[in-house]
Amino acid sequence: MRRSTVRDITSQYKEGNKLVSLSLYDAWMAKLADQIDVDILLVGDSLGMTVLGYDTTVPVTIEDCLRHTAAVVRGSKKALVVGDMPFATYQSSVEVALENAARFMQEAGAHAVKLEGGTFMASTVETLVRSGIPVMGHIGILPQSVNIKGYKVVGRNSSEEQQLIADAKALEEAGAFAVVLEGVQKDVAEKITQSVGIPTIGIGAGAGCSGQIQVAHDILGLSGDFIPKHAKVFADIASPIKKAFEDYSQEVRDSSFPAKENSFE
Ligand code: KIV
Repeated sequence: MRRSTVRDITSQYKEGNKLVSLSLYDAWMAKLADQIDVDILLVGDSLGMTVLGYDTTVPVTIEDCLRHTAAVVRGSKKALVVGDMPFATYQSSVEVALENAARFMQEAGAHAVKLEGGTFMASTVETLVRSGIPVMGHIGILPQSVNIKGYKVVGRNSSEEQQLIADAKALEEAGAFAVVLEGVQKDVAEKITQSVGIPTIGIGAGAGCSGQIQVAHDILGLSGDFIPKHAKVFADIASPIKKAFEDYSQEVRDSSFPAKENSFE
């Protein structure tokens, strides 16, 4: 078994296979996803909300992302692992972007990085790709810009549609190997998919994309009371976890745990 490369992802896409991607953050979940051949494991900065307890991705630091990316690389053998560049680690200059992207490759062992933004990030993407760092783009809802734009679905009028298509084309031209479409009106997402020669990976962008990505915590019922409309809970593991904690507490309190078999003579 060997690790997938961006060239394998491109071949899968060209052969017409839908790409499957998950955003997850630890070695154990990475191992499970790897066993069922998930194509791309993104270590998203959504870890701010799912794991670290923040309200947005903005407080997430590069150290947070590097540590979790390294864990996912260690837990997987086959999937391409993409490290998500967090807020303010790539926007100020291409030099800063290159320095930080290189940390993902060298310190965390990532195989690619993802960053948010379309035409305005194209020259940065080009520099990273020319330097040997595969880049996944991200357009549509940009969670790192929540304080300016909110989480509003985009592509609902023609100027947004034109901008999204231009963004996707600019990223393709800059050398991105794929582009995430987050919260994009579904017909527009389909048009974008038809307009570019790189895979579009949708989240809240309809079925017309080349592949899909979901946050593992969302599809496992581990995101609390708010389930985003784009997500489907494929298994609610929050309830069995809570039940196990309850049973454990009960048994500690009534002294039935640890039992003889859990103790050392
Ligand atoms: O941070 C993340 O998990 C993401 C995906 C939802 C695309 O950016």
